[in-house]
Amino acid sequence: MNRLEGRVAIITGAARGMGAAHARAFVREGARVVLTDVLEDEGRRVAAEIGDRARFVTHDVSRAEDWDRVVAAAEQAFGDVGILVNNAGMGFASPLEATTEAQFRRVVEVNQVSVFLGMKAVLASMTRAGGGSIVNVSSVAGLAGSVGATAYAASKFAVTGMTKVAAKELASRGIRVNSVHPGLIDTPMIQLPESLEIVRAAAAATPLGRVAQPEEVSNLVVFLASGESSFITGAAHVVDGGFLP
Ligand SMILES: NC(=O)c1ccc[n+]([C@@H]2O[C@H](COP(=O)([O-])OP(=O)(O)OC[C@H]3O[C@@H](n4cnc5c(N)ncnc54)[C@H](O)[C@@H]3O)[C@@H](O)[C@H]2O)c1
Repeated sequence: MNRLEGRVAIITGAARGMGAAHARAFVREGARVVLTDVLEDEGRRVAAEIGDRARFVTHDVSRAEDWDRVVAAAEQAFGDVGILVNNAGMGFASPLEATTEAQFRRVVEVNQVSVFLGMKAVLASMTRAGGGSIVNVSSVAGLAGSVGATAYAASKFAVTGMTKVAAKELASRGIRVNSVHPGLIDTPMIQLPESLEIVRAAAAATPLGRVAQPEEVSNLVVFLASGESSFITGAAHVVDGGFLP
């Protein structure tokens, strides 16, 4: 079943982790995908592995001018963009008192401003494509408070909110916008030394009793990108093994 046949997608942060898994799943479902990331070597390797339905473009999601370049590259390679997955992000764990203003601002730039820039950047292309689907990756930390997550939660709650506003503003153009809220997923992000304590506690508090694999999130992202979710927009989709109450 090719649920994304003929669709053109941009997936950010696709050099590894969940973004790379989403890119593989999208191509399996018939899409052509532009993978973007700041990690050039890894990104090129993943795109080459996937084959000629994938391209890699170097991209810092916090820079507006990079976004214009990415959308132009996608249009040139494959045509108008019908799907955007705002997946790139940085983990950051630090108590409120220890977090510097510069650290806070960087997390907001990478996790939050990026989503604003990305949604704006694809609008014209998506409108030309006749509509589309934007999937913004937030977190369970974008729906509930977690210790040590002041900056991360600020950025991820903002993604939850922007998604709901964009869904209402863009519905008349046939563009759906949803957020995805993963719990604990086995990627390089949760291997940061400063996150280990939080990860241990979260794993212990996950009713399904394990960390998930990235592909378990890809299943949801493919669904939201595809026509199967045609009446779903502005919604926050949790994939967390029962972690949130
Ligand atoms: N792993 C988890 O448990 C978990 C849980 C909830 C939410 N998330 C979110 O899921 C998304 C994917 O994370 P992951 O777990 O696959 O982590 P990851 O670290 O493996 O992948 C994130 C990717 O984003 C890229 N990136 C970082 N800053 C960037 C920038 N400025 N411009 C472009 N690319 C940049 C990284 O290079 C990396 O390839 C993130 O938004 C993250 O916040 C992860």
